Amino acid sequence: MATKRTHKITLIPGDGIGPEVSGAMVKVLEAAGEATGVGFEWHEYAAGADAFEATGEYIPKALYESVEQNKVAIKGPVTTPVGGGFSSINVTLRKKFDLYANFRPVKSLPGLETKYPNIDMIIVRENTEDLYSGLEVEVVPGVVQALKIITEKGSSRIAQFAFDYAKKHNRKKIHAIHKANIMKLSDGLFLRCCRKVSEGFPEVEYKEHIVDNTCMQLVLNPYQYDIILTENLYGDILSDLCSAFVGGLGLVPGANLGAECAIFEAVHGSAPDIAGQDKANPTALLQSAVLMLHHLNEAEAAERVQSGIEQVYREGKTLTRDVGGSAGTKAFADAVLAAMESPVAAK
Ligand code: NAI
Repeated sequence: MATKRTHKITLIPGDGIGPEVSGAMVKVLEAAGEATGVGFEWHEYAAGADAFEATGEYIPKALYESVEQNKVAIKGPVTTPVGGGFSSINVTLRKKFDLYANFRPVKSLPGLETKYPNIDMIIVRENTEDLYSGLEVEVVPGVVQALKIITEKGSSRIAQFAFDYAKKHNRKKIHAIHKANIMKLSDGLFLRCCRKVSEGFPEVEYKEHIVDNTCMQLVLNPYQYDIILTENLYGDILSDLCSAFVGGLGLVPGANLGAECAIFEAVHGSAPDIAGQDKANPTALLQSAVLMLHHLNEAEAAERVQSGIEQVYREGKTLTRDVGGSAGTKAFADAVLAAMESPVAAK
């Protein structure tokens, strides 16, 4: 089929398992695009330690310019040194482009057995504030302080995002997750903003849970949650917890959304324990690419990729190790490519 539309996308493969899952994602998107009349122009950039080695910058200026121009990027994970070293590339990009909404749908895949079948929830995480402000100081030797920044603007707009999404997509319930019993000013402000926004949406049930109780409630009965609306740190932790309901970090996609730009990336990190071994599950990045295709208004290509993924899980013959199979990253991607060609997926 002749290409009808071409999208310029900034591609940040990342490090660790990033290049493997990104390679799989590009292959699958190219094939889906070919079949649905969508072309991609990939503008590829390194970030983090690899970029520093090559250019002397952790985030090269050309990468920033590319995201500014293309407005849409997809990235693999980038390793952040623990307890020192350079600041997180991921957090820096989210702040630089004011990608305030981190949108993470957690949905069971057909055919994949887990302890919690038929999960369908969404985590909406504030993405630019909180303890991720990076404001840490040693007050005196042996005493350090980390600043938790919560603003009315940041809290109101993430709440607005969650309620707008709920209304548009017919979601019934939003839980604001907080620790305002202890952090009365900061989490208190967050809650006040959520309550105020909720008043404009009488059709969406609004509830509040304290974060530690939420962890227990999630494990006991995750089905009570529909949309989880929360601050940056709690959202980060709860995302990994919720990923386990549907089979783990190899599966859950994400989008970092702002008014101008969007960067799509999986919830998982660079997984150094399995990097370079053809063991990584590319499903999470593939499903992030599905979110990206919807963002680009390419619903047909998006559905083709999603149904290809779902067919592979339904058949259960070519699954990666994290979900009980023995296939490698490449074999999984090839199975998705084959599934997209089959009559079921190509309907
Ligand atoms: P991680 O998410 O990289 O790995 C946690 C566990 O999940 C590991 O056992 C790993 O093998 C497994 N896993 C993750 N993704 C998988 C996949 N696609 N397929 C199969 N198994 C998978 O978390 P960890 O180890 O805490 O972090 C490693 C590095 O990644 C750190 O430097 C961290 O800062 C960075 N990171 C980067 C993120 C990003 O770029 N957005 C997000 C989270 C962490």
